[in-house]
Amino acid sequence: MAPSQSGPMSNFRFLRACMRQSVDVTPVWFMRQAGRYMPEYRALREKHTLLELCKKPELACEVTLQPLRLGVDAAILFADILLPLEPMGAPFEFAKGEGPVVHSPIASRAQIDALRVIEPQEGLGYVLDAVRMIRRELAGRVPLIGFAGAPFTLASYLIEGGKSSAFAKAKRFMYAEPETFSVLMGKLAEVVRRFLHKQIDAGVDAVQLFDSWVGQLSAEDYRTYVAPHVSHILKDVEKRGVPVIHFGTGTYHLLEEQAAAGGTVIGLDWRTPIPVGREKVGADRAVQGNLDPITLLAPRELAEKHAARVLEAAGGKPGHIFNLGHGILPETPVGTVEAVIDFVHRTSAR
Ligand code: CP3
Repeated sequence: MAPSQSGPMSNFRFLRACMRQSVDVTPVWFMRQAGRYMPEYRALREKHTLLELCKKPELACEVTLQPLRLGVDAAILFADILLPLEPMGAPFEFAKGEGPVVHSPIASRAQIDALRVIEPQEGLGYVLDAVRMIRRELAGRVPLIGFAGAPFTLASYLIEGGKSSAFAKAKRFMYAEPETFSVLMGKLAEVVRRFLHKQIDAGVDAVQLFDSWVGQLSAEDYRTYVAPHVSHILKDVEKRGVPVIHFGTGTYHLLEEQAAAGGTVIGLDWRTPIPVGREKVGADRAVQGNLDPITLLAPRELAEKHAARVLEAAGGKPGHIFNLGHGILPETPVGTVEAVIDFVHRTSAR
């Protein structure tokens, strides 16, 4: 088992900030920092499908390391939240221009009963191999973040069959057949719990749970249908002592509930001012965010101005990791990303 680089003795500013310890400068990384906005990523994608990049550890390793040249303070494993669906028995593909497409969207109890609660070694061993390889290649330069999708976000893809805006099918299922929905959520939560443990065993220094679409639910529905499954994962994984980042978007009204469900660090999107977010999640949590990814499409000076506002809102207090409020868009200029990372480091020096 690889020794963890986190814990009270860590020298990495990303891990220190997750633990609300003092830092020399504010750490920064970006969700989707490996991806289409980078020319070296697009070059690899010309030769390989997205799933090939995920499934071949050497390629996943190469892509994970690509954004390091921009000066980020953490690497995030190159994979996708949907990967566990295939070995569970729900194959999907990334269709050109459409995003993910699940071949047989879930509409019945029988389909849910047929889903397998797998051990991550069966069917996701390639991700764990990638973690070990990345860890070796990183050679201690920056910490490595592992991740998984949260049950509601995964269930929404399984039921909708792909991307959605109103989540009508998923929510109708949740309201109309709460017990069956809960069986589905329970199966997903158990697979994700096991998967995050195995990623930690393989050497990741922190993990992030992506509940990207949970902001679609009211606080009451979150409490009823989602929180028990998210805490099943987070309360258990937190025992490992590595930082656990709990992320969602459109979650202004859910932050208290999300913090109660678990996480060392709570993600804030750009709609939640950092001081308000801190108030909601409590002083015992760090926060991550929350630059609007669209600001990176503006001229560099403007992007820096918005980054300055984020730093100002965070007020130099311990427990802030600079990030976007959601993933980088493919049309983002690499130079702007690099400039903002440098700006955050330069202007946040304590
Ligand atoms: O952040 C990183 O650099 C690590 C890699 C990563 C990917 N997906 C690779 C990827 C991570 C952390 C994810 C998470 C993910 N995947 C989420 C949660 C984060 C979020 O953005 O809310 C979600 C909802 C997914 C599902 C998914 N994967 C969608 C909806 C899409 C298509 C949308 C799009 O941008 O085209 C993907 C494809 C995907 N996963 C890409 C990448 C880099 C697109 C790149 C490509 O086609 O080459």
